[in-house]
Amino acid sequence: MYTIHRENMNNMKEVIKNILIQKFGETGETTSVFRAPARINIIGEHVDYLGGYVLPAAIDYYVYVSIRKNNLRQFRVYSKQFDNLVVSESLESNKQVDWVNYIYGVINEIFILGHVITGFDMVIDGNIPTGAGLSSSAALEVVVVYALSEIFGLQIPREEIAVIGQRAENNFVGVNCGIMDQFIIANGKDNSCLLLQTDSLEYSYIPLDLGDVGFYLINSEVKHSLKDSEYNERRKECDTALNKIKDKYKELENLYNLDVLSDLKQFGFKPNEQKRVGHVLGEKARTKKVIAAISKKDAKTIGDCLFQTHNSLSEKFEVSCVETDFLVQELKRLGVLGARMMGGGFGGCVLVLDFKNNFEPIQKEIQRTYSQKTGLNPRFYHFEICNGVEYA
Ligand code: GLA
Repeated sequence: MYTIHRENMNNMKEVIKNILIQKFGETGETTSVFRAPARINIIGEHVDYLGGYVLPAAIDYYVYVSIRKNNLRQFRVYSKQFDNLVVSESLESNKQVDWVNYIYGVINEIFILGHVITGFDMVIDGNIPTGAGLSSSAALEVVVVYALSEIFGLQIPREEIAVIGQRAENNFVGVNCGIMDQFIIANGKDNSCLLLQTDSLEYSYIPLDLGDVGFYLINSEVKHSLKDSEYNERRKECDTALNKIKDKYKELENLYNLDVLSDLKQFGFKPNEQKRVGHVLGEKARTKKVIAAISKKDAKTIGDCLFQTHNSLSEKFEVSCVETDFLVQELKRLGVLGARMMGGGFGGCVLVLDFKNNFEPIQKEIQRTYSQKTGLNPRFYHFEICNGVEYA
């Protein structure tokens, strides 16, 4: 995979501007450059389509786009990463070139809202690994909406940018994802995580400073594609479970609002449904604990909750895989404060919480044991928490 390391991103703005001129020629029209970050999620996994609370943060890995208007009434887009140029006048789903559908999807949603966009030239590049659970697709959606809003003067608020991205993914790409990824990528704030209530979209920022303790990521290098995974299936199971609860409690609006102490046996769930609901209620209780622990800088409690969330995602929600299970088990054996699979699951990254001076020796050991066990080469990502989508 084509990857630019964080250190090499500094002159990205100029590089991507120049590529646009090389590909499409000089027209006198101004070129602008935008970027959208990746995200982590501290806690609140697989609850953002159930009305739950999530606690994500934006991190400084980016999708960049350079863009200018053209008067050809064409959408001309070049992906540097895939070395692929697509020119189109319509928004028909492209069966051969997957990534372009994220762009068509958001344009489609922008049209539905009644905005006018004419032709544009665009170049995309970046260093967010794909299929790693860091939301490279949501970053692409959000940066494209933001860029179009800026160059065509649409003045779309950040909250709505997120919703447009989510709708594109639901309606055009076919993944029934929740709102978390697009929301944090549009609204991230440096040094803070964002507490989002995914039903009302009310949110607040929580400063994240744990002193000598920090987070990093380990990419299991097991690639996931939510489109081909059981992600949509999990949503359906949760819907069916909610309907069964509603037979008794008609007024319950979403699964997350079920009382954590409810006796689940009364609802006649199938074993799978019982497990899924068990995860959701456990996650609700853990999220509360983590929020309190962050303000007290209580890293031990946060770490314990991360381990518990991993077990729950693995055993009750069944979205982990042997490789990420192994990583978390190893990290626990080595004594880190906490670790868990992160994002949609079925591979991708593990989020680790530990003392900063333990990062290096632990990573060396994981490199050794993980490669030995799986034959895969894990990648380690360090990051700063940063702002959401912006001018580069
Ligand atoms: C993916 C989806 C999000 C969310 C997470 C799991 O990242 O895009 O909406 O559901 O999985 O928490």
